[in-house]
Amino acid sequence: MAYKPVKTVVFPVAGRGTRFLPVTKASPKEMLPIVDKPLIQYAVDEALSAGADTLVFITGSSKRAIEDHFDSNPELEAVLQSQGKQELLDLLRGILPSYASCVYIRQPAPLGLGHAVLCARPVVGDSPFMVHLADDLIDAPVSCLKQMVEVFREYGGSVLGVQEVPKQDTDKYGIVTLERMVAPRVGKISHIVEKPKPDKAASTLAVVGRYLLTPGVFDDLAKIGKGAGGEIQLTDGIAQLMRREPVYAFQFEGKRYDCGSKLGYLQATVEYGLRHSSLGKDFADYLKNLAATL
Ligand code: UTP
Repeated sequence: MAYKPVKTVVFPVAGRGTRFLPVTKASPKEMLPIVDKPLIQYAVDEALSAGADTLVFITGSSKRAIEDHFDSNPELEAVLQSQGKQELLDLLRGILPSYASCVYIRQPAPLGLGHAVLCARPVVGDSPFMVHLADDLIDAPVSCLKQMVEVFREYGGSVLGVQEVPKQDTDKYGIVTLERMVAPRVGKISHIVEKPKPDKAASTLAVVGRYLLTPGVFDDLAKIGKGAGGEIQLTDGIAQLMRREPVYAFQFEGKRYDCGSKLGYLQATVEYGLRHSSLGKDFADYLKNLAATL
């Protein structure tokens, strides 16, 4: 089957973010900054670099800040203009290119990632689409989603971004088993299970927040019931889709930071801080001095 180009990306941002409470009580996890950009802006930049032009945010309560971030702010722009702060003005105006449109869909209650993705159906329609979980930050020479679009072009089926995880962590992820490798980093999936206990997990290959899905998955998501944790799981929808279509696991090139956990978030902050164009050197000096005192 020949698919249309992949132009739509879905950002499910309606989760409760309980691991980051209290900071996520009134503001979204996806607005947590890594140095000077919120996680959701890294996510949007990645999707744009992969060719997306339609950005669908599945939002819930306390998520207004995300809409405001991608909207223009004429009052602030007027102040910066009057103060001659052109660089900051350009920075604000460059957050989103003019060809990109944002669509906000409210998930009535956080019923699970699968349910959140299903909420995007009226906008996505009959085209393949990307799903990006902003709390999985991936630093890569070619963006992870862009790499996945290339795999999709080559093999034509849904593609899941995967990574090896420690055995004791399998119950935090969707875990895949491969039938066979079709290229050095691409394997055809035979099984996928959400959050198996370490002693029950068939592998340690975990899905990490990047999906390129064919639209057939919506029919499956509409039919499945609650799964692990009492939530409607995207993994269970994909497991059904696999009965009709091939689904591939792709071991992307790049380093992933689990910014949904406090430790992963701090690691990303330090490493992005060290690489920052204007702060990096001073920050490295600071860390060296600090390390000498430990
Ligand atoms: P997580 O499992 O990380 O849950 O969701 P969470 O609520 O964000 O965070 P914790 O575990 O309570 O700390 C994975 C992704 O799915 C989205 C989340 O926003 C996150 O991007 N999600 C989850 C939804 O959009 N809706 C849901 O009903 C559930």
